[in-house]
Amino acid sequence: MAKICVIGSCSMDLVVTSSKRPHAGETVLGEKFATVPGGKGANQAVAASRLGADVTMVGCVGEDFYGTEIMENLKRNRVITTNVEPVTHVKSGIAHIILAEGDNSIIVVKGANDLVTPKLVERALDAIKGSDMVLIQQEIPEETVSYVSELCHKFNVPMLLNPAPARPISDTIIENAAYLTPNEHECTILFPGMSTIDALRKYPNKLFITEGSNGVRFYDGEQEVLVPTYKVNAIDTTGAGDTFNAAFAVALAEGSSILDSVKFANRAASLSVTKFGAQGGMPTRAEVEANL
Ligand code: RIB
Repeated sequence: MAKICVIGSCSMDLVVTSSKRPHAGETVLGEKFATVPGGKGANQAVAASRLGADVTMVGCVGEDFYGTEIMENLKRNRVITTNVEPVTHVKSGIAHIILAEGDNSIIVVKGANDLVTPKLVERALDAIKGSDMVLIQQEIPEETVSYVSELCHKFNVPMLLNPAPARPISDTIIENAAYLTPNEHECTILFPGMSTIDALRKYPNKLFITEGSNGVRFYDGEQEVLVPTYKVNAIDTTGAGDTFNAAFAVALAEGSSILDSVKFANRAASLSVTKFGAQGGMPTRAEVEANL
């Protein structure tokens, strides 16, 4: 069983479904409101666990109603939560999500996720050292991502950085990461002034650009490869990227080839969008394998 350590955000998603997205200054009437567990870190932890990995989450929640729900949800999904710290002085992170016109728009208020500090990570050192892969995103402070990248480099644990949401990052983090999975927009922030093909060629088998319904692009050392996604009837694309990252990490940690890992991850991500909520459609291992 692959051991995955996820270091990142745990949030509650406040989701409004509406047929129309309001313009600035406009009020529209929506159809539905729901609160569902989210946060890129927790989403990736849940997805990896459903795919059969042994998952430890490192994060922070507020000691509030959402914090309790987030913890219970992680436990229900068999994620180890001993390194998720409840704090009293800051509220749990939330994501305000509008689902409208076939796509989502998201505002994240980091709250307790901003307290995922190097010090908190240090307490989880044993879990990190004992992992086959560390999975990290950018809803936590940059200094933490930098610190984790150094730890992973030092202890020879591969780190998969999902650089979302976009922000510029240091060359050291890029060098220390074993895998980078930006979308097209995030790629331009990561490698300013560099064309996609130049970035791909500079990082063969390390840089994987997710292009939504188009597929995933990487350079295998000899040629550019585009692995297409599976066509499905999408209900909610929130969390598709998280499912991709988790599934990619699980397959790589189990020793699958890069190409097979991308295909597996594409399949898992395509299944995830067929239900409502970031975690609602995240598939089990059996569901992915039955559909490969
Ligand atoms: O990647 C999807 C996630 O991003 C949502 O669950 C939301 O919490 C935002 O952080």
